[in-house]
Amino acid sequence: MQQDMILIIDLGSEENAKIAREIRSLGVYSEIHPHDLTADELAKLPNVKGIILNGGKNRIVDGVEIDASDAIYNCGLPIMSVDHKNEPAWPQDDAIRLDAIRGFIFDVCNAQKNWSAKNFIDDQIELMRQQIGDRKVLLALSGGVDSSVVAALLVKAIGDKLTCVHVNHGLLRKGEPEEVVRVFRDELGANLIYVDAVGRFLDKLAGVSDPEEKRKIIGAEFIRVFEEEARKLDGIEFLGQGTIYPDILESGTKTAKNIKSHHNVGGLPEDLQFELVEPLKMLFKDEVREVGFELGLPEGMVQRQPFPGPGLGVRCTGAITRDRLEAVRESDAILREEFAKAGLQGKVWQYFTIVPDFKSTGVKNNERSFEWPVVIRAVNTVDAMTATVEELDWSTLKKITDRIISEVDGVNRVLYDVTPKPTGTIEWE
Ligand code: XMP
Repeated sequence: MQQDMILIIDLGSEENAKIAREIRSLGVYSEIHPHDLTADELAKLPNVKGIILNGGKNRIVDGVEIDASDAIYNCGLPIMSVDHKNEPAWPQDDAIRLDAIRGFIFDVCNAQKNWSAKNFIDDQIELMRQQIGDRKVLLALSGGVDSSVVAALLVKAIGDKLTCVHVNHGLLRKGEPEEVVRVFRDELGANLIYVDAVGRFLDKLAGVSDPEEKRKIIGAEFIRVFEEEARKLDGIEFLGQGTIYPDILESGTKTAKNIKSHHNVGGLPEDLQFELVEPLKMLFKDEVREVGFELGLPEGMVQRQPFPGPGLGVRCTGAITRDRLEAVRESDAILREEFAKAGLQGKVWQYFTIVPDFKSTGVKNNERSFEWPVVIRAVNTVDAMTATVEELDWSTLKKITDRIISEVDGVNRVLYDVTPKPTGTIEWE
């Protein structure tokens, strides 16, 4: 490992991740570890230059106040305490806090500013080669940011010992399956199995209108298709996964209860158990994007907005039909194109279209029409728990509306959803 590291010891603060990000933003790598770290565990962590003890409101666990272990106090490295109980109190002003952290890590710990996407990539390639050796890795490549960056890293590290499986379930956005094939098979030379499962998924979903039922069918069928492909391959020992740091932090710590269980390709049968390769598990989302850029992945892939697992399936409300699904896909493509032209790509958190399963009357070419509406949704959020609506300017909305009603078959109306979350969820199903 090339990078210097600052350890954050979790003494019950809810701000561990924030401080880790602040330190990384100063160019120094930082990881969060539990308060009971042993001397052995500490010795295994590379290039630690200093320790921050981060106390907070979850410091009392099961009635007992927790403290850092003796191993931590006695390790001889510089230690700074960031405890709200101390006097003077830890500053709440972000700029003053950052100054205090800067002073500690550079003047006291003498840490070097060597945390960069390039160094990260070099280190991970080395680590993955050590972990994997001559053995083989399988990766479900959805084309999302995380799985794409994992694929690109693994191709660099182990070349054709990686097999990627891309399942096209028919609910992806326009051009996505083609882009995955072009980037990974044609440009990076990855071993890519492309599975056209469109008919299979749409058959299973035919006539199913309950949103949770639709989700279950899509999830279960995805596992089934992936499992079938895995069984055709010989000698796979590892499964690559795009787990990122927030997934791990949200799975709970010794001072905070589980917030949500981290979901990835779970559900594979018992006899298909693989060892995991998770090169992004210490990165925050924006760092994953930086690594993606550094690896030369296309901007559209790296800046890709969050996209739900069930894909366009939850935006074609009620029972999915092929023609209405096409209307979702085409209108979404127009929306994305116009957002990019207006400089909104990468600025608005999530934007997409919904085509509900009802029709309304309109006039088209001097005739009565009875067709679907397209609903535009564009929201901003930090954690997807609450969201505000993007205040799109009128001329952009008008341009998008004109294009959707003239280019998308079966549509005669365009609506803008101005509902924040709560009360509306981000998706419509
Ligand atoms: P809601 O609709 O709950 O969405 O406000 C919050 C965020 O979660 C995404 N989402 C999903 N992601 N599987 C996923 O992987 C799902 O079933 C799912 N449902 C919603 C949604 O796109 C938004 O970013």
